[in-house]
Amino acid sequence: MTSALFTPLTLRTVEARNRLWVSPLCQYSCEAQDGVPTDWHLVHLGSFARGGAGLVMSEATAVLPEGRISPWCPGIWNDEQRDAWARIVSFIHGQGAVAAIQLAHAGRKGSTHREWSGRGTVPAEEGGWPTVAPSAIAFGDYAEPTALDEEGIAAIVDGFGEAARRALEAGFDVLEVHAAHGYLLHQFLSPLANTRTDRWGGALVGRARLLLHVVRRVREVAGPDVPLFVRVSATDWVEPAGWTLDDTVTVAQWLREAGADLVDTSTGGLIPDATIPTGPGYQVPHATAIRERSGIAATAVGMIVDARQAEALVASGKADAVFVGREFMRDPHLPLRAAHELGEDIGYWPPQYTRASWRSRPAVAHEED
Ligand SMILES: Cc1cc2nc3c(=O)[nH]c(=O)nc-3n(C[C@H](O)[C@H](O)[C@H](O)COP(=O)(O)O)c2cc1C
Repeated sequence: MTSALFTPLTLRTVEARNRLWVSPLCQYSCEAQDGVPTDWHLVHLGSFARGGAGLVMSEATAVLPEGRISPWCPGIWNDEQRDAWARIVSFIHGQGAVAAIQLAHAGRKGSTHREWSGRGTVPAEEGGWPTVAPSAIAFGDYAEPTALDEEGIAAIVDGFGEAARRALEAGFDVLEVHAAHGYLLHQFLSPLANTRTDRWGGALVGRARLLLHVVRRVREVAGPDVPLFVRVSATDWVEPAGWTLDDTVTVAQWLREAGADLVDTSTGGLIPDATIPTGPGYQVPHATAIRERSGIAATAVGMIVDARQAEALVASGKADAVFVGREFMRDPHLPLRAAHELGEDIGYWPPQYTRASWRSRPAVAHEED
């Protein structure tokens, strides 16, 4: 059998060995609050590469200090961070996976506690900072952000450009711009967070301007060979007042023209109390719509947990590849397991682990189907 999920995918000059990819997963684990990734990040990301992932994406990595989600999030705004990432990238490459980085700015959702140690905004004396946004509108009960001025917006674009340069110096193969989940670029896109009346707000073209500036700048830095992804929230789940799938489809076409290669399709995160109809593969229809209506490659993510489910999504052309988050954390060897379940003979079982491979175990009932 030749599985669609295990068929390599080439974007520009980069080939991923399969289409089962690791979604960005915040770890809140830079204990020194300096944005430098640690051994935790090496083991966390490295285990997915060892486990056979085609592409391993870093968690949201801040392009500027105040772009972090929490004081414990990693960054790539200085050379010390770049060099720490380089070690992790080198291990990922050694295991045969593509190394990708999600470049991010949290905007009004920055300066928060980590999930397990509190809620809301971290005060300055504990390492927090004043947040910025398109408009002075708070996210839920978080601190009110300051609306960015022209100079502040220019610094954001420069921040993404410099971060892209450092990411390439660290050896990353793929760059992703994070424009989803209610973070800064999504805040600019959504009329629920952006009430500006200048050229960075108003109609769709104004609200999309910052994202397009960022993508053009990152493409300029990346040159022609490096694939560029954009993660979007395809809807705020607040219709018709919020950001919608139709808006996303239009902007995806503009992103393609601006040099993006793939839309990593998620949803939600802009407001705290949206009702989201979650369920297996619940965001797949959004990815399919973007892929079919915008003519850009698109990936699906969200409650994709099973080899046959992932295989069917890719084989039917609903998505070019799948990102998986929580199931990878439950089982970092998910691709090795999925290949076995799909009867696919992959050539990258780690040699050190050969004696553990399922094929060397006596067959059990479910292995025979
Ligand atoms: C612990 C955790 C951290 C996450 N961090 C990020 C992140 O840094 N960037 C991002 O775009 N999405 C992040 N997400 C969302 C995931 O990438 C993914 O889209 C989501 O979990 C749905 O996929 P899943 O059902 O396979 O987990 C995070 C999710 C979890 C559970």
